[in-house]
Amino acid sequence: MFKRSIISGVGHYVPDNVVKNDDLAQRMDTNNEWIVERTGIEERRHVVPGSDDTTATMGTKAAKIAIERAGLQPDDIEFIIFATLSPDYYFPGPGVQVQEQLGLAKEIGALDVRNQCSGFVYSMSVADQFIKTGMYKHILVIGSELHSGGLDMTTRGRGVSVIFGDGAGAVVMSASDDPNRGILSTHLHSEGRHAKELALEGPNTRDWVPAIIARNDPEDTSFYPYMNGNFVFKHAVVRFMEVINEALAANQLQSTDLKLLIPHQANLRISQYIQQKMQLRDDQVYNNIMRYGNTTAATIPIALSEAWEAGLIQKGDLVMFAAFGSGFTWASAVMRW
Ligand code: ACO
Repeated sequence: MFKRSIISGVGHYVPDNVVKNDDLAQRMDTNNEWIVERTGIEERRHVVPGSDDTTATMGTKAAKIAIERAGLQPDDIEFIIFATLSPDYYFPGPGVQVQEQLGLAKEIGALDVRNQCSGFVYSMSVADQFIKTGMYKHILVIGSELHSGGLDMTTRGRGVSVIFGDGAGAVVMSASDDPNRGILSTHLHSEGRHAKELALEGPNTRDWVPAIIARNDPEDTSFYPYMNGNFVFKHAVVRFMEVINEALAANQLQSTDLKLLIPHQANLRISQYIQQKMQLRDDQVYNNIMRYGNTTAATIPIALSEAWEAGLIQKGDLVMFAAFGSGFTWASAVMRW
């Protein structure tokens, strides 16, 4: 019989350093009103340069909490999946760093997922397949980002830099024999023709490193993320709705059946648009972008961990996760907690 994939533990970690909109206004031509009105963001966390917080270590900190809450020991984990667009190193990805930082006795597999804002839902889907087929019983799934070190904190980069924050979230996905619990479906999509609308192009293997060094051009913005904000926004609202409705239809569910929708935290206006279109009450949609900004692959597990800590999710509740981001990629997962 197929196993079901449940979430047995959740955890998150964010750096202590709170950066308010007014703090950013000291560094670039922006202001609190613009940021709150356009995005809903009031503050975000940035790691303190020189601290031990990196994408990998923040992921490990979140993972330790999730493992403990699952009632497991680190060595019970059989596989690691790590989603990020901001790895510590160009290669290897941070999954292997977690294998080391958890002090695992076993040389378990570690997979890195590069699907940006959709990365965590993609990772849940991968974990679900391994669990359903019986290959693994406990999989650690992490989303973690350190954006602040890679943003253009001048007025030139303000359209992007005010939005993103640092942090990590993690879950343990475990096998269950209970047919009434676990992931009901996942749906994954991509549309690569829009890859450049939200991308970070440098460094890359088309622009050869010796050529970059020879140019030594401080005006080269290819090392900073680029986002065609309006274009991304318009696609996001359409794709979010499509992939949520796809999940509901596949499971013969109505939006009213949902206890909680945890959307990727890209922009509060996007979440509010979805909520209104789906006619959901405020208590059916979890948002924390006000406090953390967009932490890309980490937004969904951080929000899930907070919602769980607040007692908003109980056994048997129907929970929907949905994300859209760079690629473009978009995805949903629906589960019975
Ligand atoms: N402070 C003040 N003014 C600013 C700032 C800022 N931080 N940033 C831009 N502006 C100015 C612009 O220069 C522009 O000025 P102009 O009219 O004189 O030219 C004006 O504000 C409007 O700029 P827009 O970019 O058109 O503003 P918009 O309302 O589209 O909001 C935003 C921008 C917040 C980025 C929005 O487009 C958005 O949220 N897009 C979607 C983001 C998203 O979903 N991303 C996907 C996930 S991220 C991932 O996958 C990595």
